[in-house]
Amino acid sequence: MKQANISDFCALEDKEYLSKVKEFFKDKKHTYFVETYGCQMNVRISQTLAGMFQEMGYVPAESKEEADAVIFNTCCVREGAEDRLLGNLGKLKQIKKKKPEMLIMVCGCMVQEQGSAEKLKKRFPFCSVLFGTHNVHEMPKLMFSALTKGERQVSVWEKEGDIVENMPALREKEASAFVNIMYGCNNFCSYCIVPYVRGRERSRRSEDIIAEVRQLVKEGKKEITLLGQNVNSYGKNSDEISFPELLRELNKIDGLERIRFMTSHPKDLSDQLISAMAECEKVCKYIHLPVQSGSNRILKLMNRHYTREDYLLIVKKLREKMPDVAISTDIIVGFPTESEQDFEDTLDLYKQVCYNSAFTFVYSKRIGTPAEKMEEQIPAEITKDRMARLIALSEECCLRANEKYLGRTLEVLVEGVSKKDESLVFGRSDCGRMVTFSGCACLTGKIVKVKITSVKLNTLIGEME
Ligand code: 5AD
Ligand code: SF4
Repeated sequence: MKQANISDFCALEDKEYLSKVKEFFKDKKHTYFVETYGCQMNVRISQTLAGMFQEMGYVPAESKEEADAVIFNTCCVREGAEDRLLGNLGKLKQIKKKKPEMLIMVCGCMVQEQGSAEKLKKRFPFCSVLFGTHNVHEMPKLMFSALTKGERQVSVWEKEGDIVENMPALREKEASAFVNIMYGCNNFCSYCIVPYVRGRERSRRSEDIIAEVRQLVKEGKKEITLLGQNVNSYGKNSDEISFPELLRELNKIDGLERIRFMTSHPKDLSDQLISAMAECEKVCKYIHLPVQSGSNRILKLMNRHYTREDYLLIVKKLREKMPDVAISTDIIVGFPTESEQDFEDTLDLYKQVCYNSAFTFVYSKRIGTPAEKMEEQIPAEITKDRMARLIALSEECCLRANEKYLGRTLEVLVEGVSKKDESLVFGRSDCGRMVTFSGCACLTGKIVKVKITSVKLNTLIGEME
């Protein structure tokens, strides 16, 4: 794999359309609303969409119903996200009838799926603009054409293009920020649609990542979360530095206090990464390490390229170097052919690791993936029962893991005041747990020491020292 090609947004013709749209509206106030489905990657892309809207002179709307332009940034990883989008689009149809000038747009993974743009175009004739995952930078141009010509615009690039740097972005207000380090995925896990809609793996240049993080620190950010479908293969087969080396470089940045990352594929998790995590004081001692299944037979069918033994060995090594490391995971229940024994293997692995937390998903058939063709899809009543058993176990382990923090002092980056009780503030510990304690709004964005006095399933409760 060659180094990915990089383009600068400022040098692209697409950028000119930001001012053309602004000019189109002149002094008329126009509002936007971005609705995001799916993963953190999409959250980050929505910040770029919002950044472009702002540069086109749009201001945020209170709700999508009131907005002059609405964009749905979609996800197709499971059926649920798709259903929610379809429901929400249907509701907007009625509003558009009363407000015909409203611009309704759909972008992202669902549009990128093969044949999907045409289907969406037919099914939702009131959508003015549709674009995929590879041409987000074209949004202003497509909007300009839709606004000035009154014609619907559909643009889906079949393949990924250059990585576009220096796009506008409206970041989160908090002291924490997402930073992409790579795009796409080469792993082709047999159940997963992501490689088909996000293209091949491309790594950003480390100098661009480092410059972005430095800039974020200047703007007051204390914590960054590095994003990639598989951060462990950052820079592989190119002349870029490796992921552990990138962590070491970022660790040197003055003013940055915390570095997080996700997601790590177990097959690519190296000893060098474990050492970098252990040795870099800014890197949080927390790792999200999706196992998907504890059965070797299912792992093979999933095309995951590791066994349960390999996985357990990684967990052992992580805990040897970082005894307090927090570990979370993703698990799919009801993968085609999953037997009771396979599922019990998953429960057994779960017990052995005793995860801090887990995202658990019922297998969702995705058109075009190898698993779609697998015989023996598991009936819903069986997956429901297995899911209930897995959730019960995960709650038990989560509580047990939380109890280990009792009496200990954790560093918490305060995110804000609790909605339920104004005398409480909340934030995340270095190990990624939610912590609540008595405090005022003035602590927001600060890192404070909190002694843990009691624990619940989803929160640790404490007192500021
Ligand atoms: N069905 C259920 N879960 C899935 N995931 C990915 N594809 C599917 C699917 N077809 C889950 C995996 C992955 C997480 C982001 O989503 O567990 O780690
Ligand atoms: Fe999907 Fe597997 Fe790539 Fe993760 S690593 S995005 S599960 S194909």
